[in-house]
Amino acid sequence: MDVTDGLEVPQETLDAEIKSFFESAPPLKNGDDISEKLKEFIGRNSLPSGNGSARRVVCVTSGGTTVPLERRCVRYIDNFSSGHRGAASTEYFIKAGYAVIFLHRRGTCQPHCRSLPEDPLLECFEVTDEPNIRVRQSDSEAVKRAITEHHAAVAEGLLLKLPFTTIFEYLQMLQMIAISMRSLGAPAMFYLAAAVSDFYVPWRSMVEHKIQSASGPLDMRLVQVPKMLSVLRKDWAPMAFCISFKLETDKKILLEKADMALKKYKMHMVVANELLSRKEEVVVVTTNDKLSVHRDKTHVGNDVENPLIRLIVERHSAYLENPNL
Ligand code: PMT
Repeated sequence: MDVTDGLEVPQETLDAEIKSFFESAPPLKNGDDISEKLKEFIGRNSLPSGNGSARRVVCVTSGGTTVPLERRCVRYIDNFSSGHRGAASTEYFIKAGYAVIFLHRRGTCQPHCRSLPEDPLLECFEVTDEPNIRVRQSDSEAVKRAITEHHAAVAEGLLLKLPFTTIFEYLQMLQMIAISMRSLGAPAMFYLAAAVSDFYVPWRSMVEHKIQSASGPLDMRLVQVPKMLSVLRKDWAPMAFCISFKLETDKKILLEKADMALKKYKMHMVVANELLSRKEEVVVVTTNDKLSVHRDKTHVGNDVENPLIRLIVERHSAYLENPNL
């Protein structure tokens, strides 16, 4: 949960916290490789698409960040996010013609894999006449569809998958992506569905080795992770269309908090969701309205991300017509 919402943090304090976060974070191990991939992906998708207009590019963030408690990490704080929202949304964005940078937590739900059977991989295949192996009949349609859709997205250069684990990796990668996407202007979008840690142990005060249980009860100070939403809007990618999420477990305060986030961080939309009903219903909060979006229960396999992404694409189109609105 976001405990800073509602509290006014002075701009200079926030800037100092952000600076300190980045200066003290352990550098990304594969920073050069990520930078190269981004350059290539954004360069390719800056060219006009089939209909002659600029290709729209969305960064979808997905899954939860971890907070390590030791530098040689044995223990960490985690959260509930499965990455389903981000993975499903990515599929619908690709269907709508967007190129997607999928910034996701390692090991969470992946686009095009949602409809795969939950059985362990080994149980989905069967040996026919050795050395041939085939997909179990009951799963073959789902597997074929997942493989076909995934390969098509990759072959068309519409999907770049970048994994993170820790809060340090996530925020550094988000900054790199945002700065790389700045040149795209209004066709760029951020869809921030990741569940981002609110508290962390700064690298400089983190112990090197595994914390010893023999030392008695653990007394540890976590500091607040600075919210990057305002700096994303103001400095990293000022023209991009920005959608953040607001998650609460108490329905009574959800819309009020979403409204507050919309204004405070100057988001174009905030998607409000409640933990238990998040797969059935979300409320999209904008400056002018609050729209309830529901999963269409009459169709098997339909999910709430289908109408949600339709609505977002519509609003992004309106923004492209008039970015000053
Ligand atoms: O992954 P699933 O299981 O499918 O679940 C989807 C979801 C519930 C995780 C998703 O729909 C969702 O609501 N994601 C945002 C959860 C969250 O972190 O909410 P928040 O109220 O703590 O934060 C609000 C926004 O601020 C988020 O867009 C987040 O990206 C951003 N944030 C949060 C903390 C922080 N330190 N910096 C941030 O920028």
